[in-house]
Amino acid sequence: MAVQITPSILNADLSRLADEVARIPSADWVHVDVMDGHFVPNLTLGAPMFESLARHSSLPLDAHLMIEDPDRWAPAYVEAGAGSVTFHVEAAAAPVRLAREIRAQGARASMALKPATPVDPYEDLLGELDMLLLMTVEPGFGGQRFLDLCLPKIRRARELIDKHGLELWLQVDGGVSAETIERCAEAGADTFVAGSAVYSAEDPDAVVQQLRSLATAADG
Ligand code: DX5
Ligand code: ZN
Repeated sequence: MAVQITPSILNADLSRLADEVARIPSADWVHVDVMDGHFVPNLTLGAPMFESLARHSSLPLDAHLMIEDPDRWAPAYVEAGAGSVTFHVEAAAAPVRLAREIRAQGARASMALKPATPVDPYEDLLGELDMLLLMTVEPGFGGQRFLDLCLPKIRRARELIDKHGLELWLQVDGGVSAETIERCAEAGADTFVAGSAVYSAEDPDAVVQQLRSLATAADG
């Protein structure tokens, strides 16, 4: 699987989202963090704003739903134009049904795990997914420090994916930067969210390209 860089716009200038997306032409996807103030102690945007961004983005949108009751709300993000929708397993009442519903609507279905959620109990669900997102910080805010304690889980997820011969992408999110991306790639991640590392730079696209080459070189 080729390396994919999916910058998060959480730390971009939220008043000019379309312009901020235009600054990262080398990215594969734009990662959009949807937070509801309940599942995480922060609030960002909802489906109407997501839909406006989808209309003005030249890149496909990867919706990361940090919300309660994704069973109810996730389908609206496919309708709003998401190419990929990630729900948290800690919040989903029926993750298999939800993944199937997202796929049936025509988007990629993805499931996220917080740092303290183990991957092994979900081994049999992986075939229902197009992507598995492993959080490498506690979800809620950009700019947090990467948690090295998540690396064994990345390795374990890669083993399970390979054991079952699955094609799903393994995404990491939180504290990913030029300092940490090689560790993630060596552990088996292939899809990388980076928020503050990209948008705190003067030339965000140069960071996207740098992250891609570091991850590609480190990919064991
Ligand atoms: C955190 C979000 C991340 C965040 C990443 O809850 O899910 O996508 O924006 O930002 P950095 O790269 O700054 O950790
Ligand atoms: Zn995210």
